[in-house]
Amino acid sequence: MLFSIFLFVFLFLAATAVYAGWRAAPWAPTFKDDKERFLRLACIKPGQKVYDLGCGDGRLVAAAGKAGAIAVGFEISLVPYFFAKWRIANSPAGKNCRIKFKDFWKADLSDADVVYFFLMPKIFAKMKAKMEKELKPGAKVIIYTWPMDGWEPLAEDCPKGKTPIYVYRR
Ligand SMILES: C[S@@+](CC[C@H](N)C(=O)[O-])C[C@H]1O[C@@H](n2cnc3c(N)ncnc32)[C@H](O)[C@@H]1O
Repeated sequence: MLFSIFLFVFLFLAATAVYAGWRAAPWAPTFKDDKERFLRLACIKPGQKVYDLGCGDGRLVAAAGKAGAIAVGFEISLVPYFFAKWRIANSPAGKNCRIKFKDFWKADLSDADVVYFFLMPKIFAKMKAKMEKELKPGAKVIIYTWPMDGWEPLAEDCPKGKTPIYVYRR
């Protein structure tokens, strides 16, 4: 009986991870060192709204909250979602942060000042259309690893041996 419950829980958690991978990307965190690069490029001002689309364990959400943002992360894979909730609950800036168990394709991004994502390029065309429709003028989009085709970057941060980060402004 106990084994069946364990197996069911395991399969359920695995199913949410597979579903997330199919929707946009599996869980792979931004490197810890690159969090500082994100903060430098985002230039967050207190009270700005920052979204991490597919927030994984919430490390960027916590960092943005600590920098003074109202930071929101969306996550649909249960294991990273619980990690993110735990991280925010234990973060000194947790009151500035929210982790939502929600598909970011269904989120309204119209009040975002900064949007960050680390997702597979297969979804970039769809993401571009969503951003062009929803983001307010001046909002920043920060992408980890791959550039967005057809957008002129405001900055490209590609130090030798590091993962590239691309910054765009709508
Ligand atoms: C490559 S990880 C990036 C995690 C985090 N942003 C970071 O940089 O450390 C992508 C995350 O997006 C989540 N994800 C994929 N599709 C999603 C969707 N439609 N809505 C919310 N989260 C999604 C995955 O579960 C995964 O945790």
